Amino acid sequence: MRQKKILMLNGVNLNMFGKRDPVQYGTITLEEIDARLQALGAELGVAVECYQTNHEGEMCLRIHQAFTEGVDAVLINAGAWTHYSYGIRDALAILTCPVVELHMSNVHAREPFRHVSVFADIVKGQICGFGVNSYLLGLRAAVAALDG
Ligand code: DQA
Repeated sequence: MRQKKILMLNGVNLNMFGKRDPVQYGTITLEEIDARLQALGAELGVAVECYQTNHEGEMCLRIHQAFTEGVDAVLINAGAWTHYSYGIRDALAILTCPVVELHMSNVHAREPFRHVSVFADIVKGQICGFGVNSYLLGLRAAVAALDG
């Protein structure tokens, strides 16, 4: 049987994890988060590919490619785009596989503009507030969603 493939999408400014706002995001880097996801993916028997961009159009193109490739699930931390990007929302809405939204910080305990996710009603579910564990829990949730 073909190994299931899960795509992790990281959006704007998330390449700066490890350097930006350690109170909200800790000191872990995106490279370290990717490595933790790959390791958990190996344990769970799924392939995990990680992608990051600071360009909204490139993110849309990567989502289109995910649709064409037929990835089995998508995890997304879109950073600030979460709160206003209808372009990324529309791209995610093209996907037929489960999509899990995640955030390192508890967005609901922060500024009011972060309380809104324009993806909320089109994703399978959301995880926030657990730091790097939001990513690991997101991967577990995506794998569980694959099984129905
Ligand atoms: C974030 C939360 C967003 O509000 C913020 O713009 C980010 C990171 C998080 O992972 O907690 O860039 O998505």
